[in-house]
Amino acid sequence: MQELQAQLRVFEAEIHSFDPKNAADVEAFRIRFLGTKGIVKQVLGEMKNVPVPQKKEAGQLLNAFKQLAEEKYASCQHLVSEVKMQDNHQDISLPGSDLPLGTRHPLRMIEKSIVGIFEKIGFSVATGPEIEDDWHNFTSLNMPADHPARDMQDTFYVSQNPDWVLRTHTSSVQARIMESSKPPIRVICPGRVYRNETISARAHCFFHQCEGLYIDKQVSFADLKQTLYYFVTEMFGKDTKVRFRPSYFPFTEPSAEMDISCTVCGGSGCNLCKHTGWVEILGCGMVHPNMLRNFNIDPEVYTGFAFGMGVERITQIKYQVNDLRLYSQNDVRFLRQFQNL
Ligand code: PHE
Repeated sequence: MQELQAQLRVFEAEIHSFDPKNAADVEAFRIRFLGTKGIVKQVLGEMKNVPVPQKKEAGQLLNAFKQLAEEKYASCQHLVSEVKMQDNHQDISLPGSDLPLGTRHPLRMIEKSIVGIFEKIGFSVATGPEIEDDWHNFTSLNMPADHPARDMQDTFYVSQNPDWVLRTHTSSVQARIMESSKPPIRVICPGRVYRNETISARAHCFFHQCEGLYIDKQVSFADLKQTLYYFVTEMFGKDTKVRFRPSYFPFTEPSAEMDISCTVCGGSGCNLCKHTGWVEILGCGMVHPNMLRNFNIDPEVYTGFAFGMGVERITQIKYQVNDLRLYSQNDVRFLRQFQNL
């Protein structure tokens, strides 16, 4: 018993004076005292040599010793976790760094509101491929190969014979919808389109459209006017006036272009409306019977209207952006101006 006590006193002194500098010291301590072949295990093994009457006392001494070693080890753990932190090069107690917030692109915001306005009156969104065949971009839209109206749209050809093009309008999506579904049809088709134009403030080789198509029994030009008038009042406010001018598109008959009263000057004349008081926003018309026939829809039973607008144009009117190139330059000084809209 005395031998045991003397031994423990030596070890206790060592534990008390143990002053680790780093995680390696702590680990060495663990192995020496608490490891599988460590001192605590060894001295506990001595119990079997202690005579029975003294076992209780010896047990208490040994337990106290074990506890001392464990407490010391626990009190050194900060050194171990600091090392772990350095290994990860992270200090989880530092405040987080600011992540700069991005903004939605103005064209996307306007596209979303156009689509939202038509969704409210039962239109659903349809999309299609940007690389299109001749049938869906031209021929089925009442523009056969020699049709002069093809010149209205300067086309990028991906391949010729068979002709694959970068779609020049999202009317190609309307063609695909008429091909794959039966009336009643009510779709709005947002998407990017391409035309071989020299890039300037007023023209670009790619831009965005939202086109709509409505086919059912007894759809009339009055429905077209009312639908577009609803769109204008939702988009630009209820005081906005509209006017329709006769126009020409091969896939609609009759066709029209729609103007709205200038949202900047209210009609008195400014740069946006070129001092006319009106700004053109879209083309529209009643779907041509030839186009309905191309998709096996009987023009004696069904009629429909279609319209198409440029998203850049609507955005320009809403926010007075007067250079188309700004939309694709990704200049954050431009984009940030739309942050809180
Ligand atoms: N597709 C025509 C264009 O790109 C717009 C349009 C669509 C006109 C539907 C009438 C009807 O210019």
